[in-house]
Amino acid sequence: MNQQQHDRLRSQFPALAQEVNGHPLVYLDNAATTQKPLAVLDAINHYYQADNANVHRAAHALSGRATRAFEAARETVARFINASHNREVIWTRGTTEAINLVAQSWGMSELQAGDEIVLSTLEHHANIVPWQLVAQRTGAVIRVIPLDERGDLDMAAYLAMLGPRTRLVSVAHVSNALGTVNPVEQIVAAAKAVGALTLIDGAQAVAHLEVDVQAIGCDFYAFSGHKLYGPTGIGVLWGRTALLERMPPWQAGGEMIDRVSFSATTFNTLPFKFEAGTPHIAGAIGLAAAIDFVMGQDREALTRHEEALTNYLVAGLRQVSGLRLVGEPGQRAGAVSFLLEDIHPQDATTLLDMQGVALRVGHHCAMPLMESLGIGGTIRASLACYNNRDDVDALLAALHKLSDFF
Ligand SMILES: Cc1ncc(COP(=O)(O)O)c(C=O)c1O
Repeated sequence: MNQQQHDRLRSQFPALAQEVNGHPLVYLDNAATTQKPLAVLDAINHYYQADNANVHRAAHALSGRATRAFEAARETVARFINASHNREVIWTRGTTEAINLVAQSWGMSELQAGDEIVLSTLEHHANIVPWQLVAQRTGAVIRVIPLDERGDLDMAAYLAMLGPRTRLVSVAHVSNALGTVNPVEQIVAAAKAVGALTLIDGAQAVAHLEVDVQAIGCDFYAFSGHKLYGPTGIGVLWGRTALLERMPPWQAGGEMIDRVSFSATTFNTLPFKFEAGTPHIAGAIGLAAAIDFVMGQDREALTRHEEALTNYLVAGLRQVSGLRLVGEPGQRAGAVSFLLEDIHPQDATTLLDMQGVALRVGHHCAMPLMESLGIGGTIRASLACYNNRDDVDALLAALHKLSDFF
């Protein structure tokens, strides 16, 4: 991707063209949420201006248009992750709700005392706490895959952990704190060999990697729209049809029913069985526009751009005196964590914000990971497709200034 092509891509994101504290915005907090391209803003606007109606119900023109756009969005998601059928795509509020759905529906109905759930040290709290709640209620046991010194999963320890009691392996595709890309195909194959199910938390993966749920071989895959240039409040749980059909409903109300009476209620078919209440129609339409935007790019060229920029960032950070990288995984996507010797991370990010540089500081909702690293938190820079060398140079210049000053 040449400079001109990249400039054109970047210009699609209006929020990037602003000044913050008298400096051009350098947005490097993409793992928290991404900025939105015009195509997404336009799609949401168009829906509310022209087609706003509830879906699947009323027999009028607007409802018909809203329903068609909403269901077309589901089809777009199915194509994006190579699901074998639209009914396997369930709308949720995001990754967190998707994981809670599996934990409450599958976990509460299937797990028994002594059953094992395997997680990893680098999980986001969204892939820890739902399982803790289920474990407390069912007597299931959580086992945790350790990390090696670079920040990669210790695969030997993982394989040794699997056995006849393993019922579920649930791990991130990409770590939000260290950027580690986990070998999910290998993780899934090993889990399958002992008869366990697998859930992949794809929150940090979908914006950076081409995801094919059938090639990964997992049973569930979860992600959020807002980390993929789409709106907040919308996300996806993908699951295999046979499994989803066996799982009991989770939230209950309208839309998810077939017939209701006070003596008995029967439930709707997939995917509606898991979609109680009026869905986030505009969100689904906005997410589909974001996916169309991503799929409309030369994705190989984008991947090469992001890889080159990540390498440039890591190499530049190594040159800042007193800076220590936290985690140096074999394969990295998106996020780079670091600490500065003489400056508290919170103070550093405040000073950087004064220069227009937006970073994230703290435990990144991965407190067990921070504990295993023996630190309270990190400063995190995270990249998206629209970032360029100017962004990285601005961050590096600001860091050099800080480290000279302290
Ligand atoms: C790896 C990972 N999992 C889950 C989540 C939760 O996503 P959401 O807050 O969109 O539900 C995040 C968000 O940062 C994440 O990075």
